[in-house]
Amino acid sequence: MTEFKTVRGMRDLFGEDSETMLHIEEKARETAKLFGYEEIITPIVESYELLAAKSGDEVKSRMFVFKDLGGRNVALRPEFTASVARLVATTLRNAPRPYRLFCVGSIYRYDEPQKGRYREFWQSNYELMGTDRPEADAEILLLTARLMQSVGLDFSLKLGHTGIWRGIFNQEGLPDNVQNSAMQLMDKKQYDDALELVQKAGLSKKCTTILQELIDLKGKKVFNIIDNIATIVHDYPKACAAVDNLREILSLVLEIAPETDMMLETGFARGLEYYTGMIFEVYVPNLEIALGGGGRYDRLIELFGGNPIPAVGVAHGLDRMMLAMKGRKTSTETRIAAPNVVIPVNEEMRKPAFMISQKLRTEGIPVEMEIMGKKMGKALEDANKRKMKFAIIVGEEEWKKGLLVVRDLEKREQTTLKIEEAHNKLRK
Ligand code: HAM
Repeated sequence: MTEFKTVRGMRDLFGEDSETMLHIEEKARETAKLFGYEEIITPIVESYELLAAKSGDEVKSRMFVFKDLGGRNVALRPEFTASVARLVATTLRNAPRPYRLFCVGSIYRYDEPQKGRYREFWQSNYELMGTDRPEADAEILLLTARLMQSVGLDFSLKLGHTGIWRGIFNQEGLPDNVQNSAMQLMDKKQYDDALELVQKAGLSKKCTTILQELIDLKGKKVFNIIDNIATIVHDYPKACAAVDNLREILSLVLEIAPETDMMLETGFARGLEYYTGMIFEVYVPNLEIALGGGGRYDRLIELFGGNPIPAVGVAHGLDRMMLAMKGRKTSTETRIAAPNVVIPVNEEMRKPAFMISQKLRTEGIPVEMEIMGKKMGKALEDANKRKMKFAIIVGEEEWKKGLLVVRDLEKREQTTLKIEEAHNKLRK
């Protein structure tokens, strides 16, 4: 018989992995609440056209695309941003601004599977729409910092600004498609190819020298680097405005959270095509791949038929956060589905044990019922192994008198209590 496996790039998560994943998801949700982001749920399947609009060649070529039975060209979401932008451009068009929207769920990309790279993975995604003020960009960075801290990760942020490059390219009259291709190459760190491409498209030698100087500028002394960029791009007013914007965002973040580890990399670009302003990625020591990424995209919502609505956002890769937590041995509290088990002493006591279980649940006490017909000793041994807290033993004599035996599995003590008293003990 065929032994079925998961499809390449897809995984089952169970035991410690699913626990950690749920723990991170909980922290992501907590962070959303702390910053006032409303949780929304969007479809996993969207129209291909919507998802492809500004995602860039790289993401576009890795989408799970198919025709549904109605002949529609659809795809599994390769990110949340397009869906959220669609919602804001249409149904939520007239809702009060700013929009602070949060989603968490599975994402699909036909990436080459390797450590930290899967074809199905999870993201927590935050979008702040309706303002182009630097406070919004700073909020997205601070929110990311908060999430990483809440799961115990040491992280650093790598920053850049698309506006610097677009400012120069636009002033030089470089066509959009060449700009996009150059940025895609820069995203893959193929800087020489990017420079060759723009030079072939007609950019002057003087300008390519400026671009080369920009690419070489990176480091942790962020304000020094910003001053240097400003000097290099002084002939390009839009690029200068982008530099000022970056300075403002960084001052806000570093004034509020001076401990934030930041690194500026002027030649940094991101694969997604919709970015117009600040861009960033999250890294942890000993892991080369990014744990999160985001940035400002002021033109996407209007592309979906909405009014121009400036926006900034971020997505965190939960699988990669999980990987980083494993590496650093950042533990989550062990979570047990139910900390209490109800065990009937024999076959006759099955029904009373069922009734007790149900009664405890209606009082909000989580219990699971022993339903494998295990002998008492074996059932207690299993409960111990699973680090459960209490075993509620339903015996014949006790049941007749309205009593229960409650065994504290950790202390290895047991007491016989009235049913109401047992409730109180378990509720603690
Ligand atoms: P992204 O950089 O494409 O941005 O993805 C965000 C994060 O998802 C990455 O930093 C990484 O942690 C995780 N990720 C990406 N691909 C994989 C994969 N194959 N396996 C595991 N994890 C992966 C976005 O998706 C944008 N929508 C972010 C954004 C929101 N920008 C503005 N708003």
